[in-house]
Amino acid sequence: MTFDRSIKIAPSILSADFADFGREIQAIEAQGADWVHVDVMDGHFVPNLTFGPPAVKAFRPHVKTVMDVHLMIAPVDPYIDAFAQAGADVLTAHVEAGPHIHRTLQAIRAAGMKAGVALNPGTPADSIAHLLDLADLVCVMTVNPGFGGQKFIDMTAKVRRLREMIGDRPVHIEIDGGVDPTTAPLVAAAGADVLVAGSAVFKGGSVADPAPYGANIAAIRAAAEGAAQAA
Ligand code: DX5
Ligand code: ZN
Repeated sequence: MTFDRSIKIAPSILSADFADFGREIQAIEAQGADWVHVDVMDGHFVPNLTFGPPAVKAFRPHVKTVMDVHLMIAPVDPYIDAFAQAGADVLTAHVEAGPHIHRTLQAIRAAGMKAGVALNPGTPADSIAHLLDLADLVCVMTVNPGFGGQKFIDMTAKVRRLREMIGDRPVHIEIDGGVDPTTAPLVAAAGADVLVAGSAVFKGGSVADPAPYGANIAAIRAAAEGAAQAA
């Protein structure tokens, strides 16, 4: 994974057909997805339960781009090696998931993955001031985690602050939650470069009719790139 700050669209398979993940992943990549965002939920850190390392391992052969695994779990550390074995390229832990996020990020990198740190809407940017050299990605939640299809919570001030803190470090700013062609420009103008979108990508399409996936991805990308250039 070489670093560049161009806009990347990362569809979240939380909004995909849970009976057909392999073909859904192939479809979104064929329709222009840059990364594949995989939402792991444990029913403890968030009030929902999705899948774990065995499922992520099964997704791996279908992912030709980047498998961006978002852990909404606590604790994180006991599962890092399992997600590395499963083939995660990026593994993101929540700063709120425990007292030792510094060690968690070190462990993720030691396991050979890119390390991400995620911030819930209530968590300030400055809470990760001492982690910027341990992270390859900062994920700014623009919904309270647990579900797709929620309303966007405006975090542009936090994104701007993070962009300032990161400076020229090779660290992505990822936005996760409620991203669509209307909200994407706000966060792109503020400095975000990876945009996760579930419902806004999968709406109107299917494995049998994936063209809407491509149109939805293109619309989000165009809106974001337009704003990023104008910023
Ligand atoms: C929410 C997940 C998000 C979610 C995004 O807890 O982390 O990745 O799938 O879904 P939308 O884009 O529909 O808000
Ligand atoms: Zn996510």
